[in-house]
Amino acid sequence: MDTTNEVKVQEEYIEKVKKINEGKNPKYNILTMGCQLNENDSEKLCGMLEKMGYTKTDNVKEADIALFNTCCVRENAEDKLFGKLGELKRLKEEKGLVIAIGGCMMQEKHITDKIKESYHFVDILFGTHTLYKFPEDLYKAIEEKKKIEDIIDVDGEIYEGLPIKRDSLIKASVTIMNGCNNFCTYCIVPYVRGRERSRSPKSIIEEVKHLAKSGYKEITLLGQNVNSYLRVEKEKNIPFDEYEGVNSFATLLRAINKIDGIERIRFVSPHPKDFTDDVIEAIADCDKVCKLVHLPLQAGNTKVLKEMNRKYTKEQYLELVDKMKKKIPNLTLSTDIIVGFPGETDEEFEDTLDVVRKVKFEQVYMFIYSRRVGTPGDKMPNQIPEEIKHKRFNKLKELVESQIEENNQKYVGTVQKVLVEGESKNNTLMLTGRTDSNKVVIFEGDKTLIGKLIDLKIVSEHMWYLKGEVLN
Ligand code: 5AD
Ligand code: SF4
Repeated sequence: MDTTNEVKVQEEYIEKVKKINEGKNPKYNILTMGCQLNENDSEKLCGMLEKMGYTKTDNVKEADIALFNTCCVRENAEDKLFGKLGELKRLKEEKGLVIAIGGCMMQEKHITDKIKESYHFVDILFGTHTLYKFPEDLYKAIEEKKKIEDIIDVDGEIYEGLPIKRDSLIKASVTIMNGCNNFCTYCIVPYVRGRERSRSPKSIIEEVKHLAKSGYKEITLLGQNVNSYLRVEKEKNIPFDEYEGVNSFATLLRAINKIDGIERIRFVSPHPKDFTDDVIEAIADCDKVCKLVHLPLQAGNTKVLKEMNRKYTKEQYLELVDKMKKKIPNLTLSTDIIVGFPGETDEEFEDTLDVVRKVKFEQVYMFIYSRRVGTPGDKMPNQIPEEIKHKRFNKLKELVESQIEENNQKYVGTVQKVLVEGESKNNTLMLTGRTDSNKVVIFEGDKTLIGKLIDLKIVSEHMWYLKGEVLN
């Protein structure tokens, strides 16, 4: 399919909506749920809306459009969406607010059915594969007063050249691939984001070069499974053009490392089973690639991992960590863990604690298992009672927090390279930035330091942040 032509069609719709909006100064409010990929999608939606003449407001009461970019990885996001929709009903009646809902949750039929039945005042529903068509959907909703449902089940194409309005002037996310082929049995993502497809090396490199020219210092490469970048294309003989030597994730890291102006490169999320030696070597060799690697564990017990379809054992995970620690100086690790997967016994859960004790993660993102309609996990008979899941969660949290406290002590007295991101949210007299290991550092300093990579002496630790001092 010719996606360039499709993008041109959308540019025409952008112009049409812009005309309607002339002299009106309309506003939009956006609520984004979920992961960094969704945030990056929201930046694209904001880019389109701003080109159509809308400006952003944080107050939905002032808005002409309320937009939700939804996530469905865990159940609390659903409660949040339905709660918010209830609140918006009155605004819809009073001032004709346009309500649009997009993203992963819209790929789930039981959710869209519920919206159509109980929240029929919603104007636009669009899915993950039709985000690029938002200008057309919006035009039809406001000009033709139609209810729009624009959701398809086939894998979307990759659309290049959509407008984008980024949240930061210093850090930027770049999506390198869409979808997932792994089908972990707890996870809804493969069903709502479709199969893996990679962006072309050229379009990624050009985007990063453009970001570097615009003054961006840190790039985060995004994908559900970044270290299998271009794998499917190679396996299925889908042609792609190599560009600046890029034909894999490792070569992509190396090529981006050469781009002048970029100072830091991060990536989320890799899969342990695809962590090949060439990627480990690239991380070790590339000075701009941060030495914090997010390596989702999910569970520490081999039987549970098998049930989860993760394709590695406890021992293989630990061996990988050992190998990485040996090959990458100053490596730090973060992870995702799910507690209470169906059938997990107390004993098996102990293996998760054991891995956490051994690896000493810099950061652990902890989740209580949440049943997702349509996944194999949801059909497993031996679901764990809520109170046991919570007990395990608290036990894990206690361990993680004690490790973080201990780990924080190691920073005190050291000098850390910090990328200064801006004023601290809680105290605008202070600046905030992050270490290579992604720890927040708050310090007093001149605003001219914003956007610079500087050395800070760490003077104290406060659980979720460190305090630093500028070295003179
Ligand atoms: N329940 C709980 N956590 C989940 N995750 C994915 N699916 C589920 C689920 N059904 C977690 C995984 C993943 C992270 C993004 O969300 O840990 O890595
Ligand atoms: Fe979900 Fe597993 Fe794919 Fe990650 S790798 S998106 S957890 S199925």
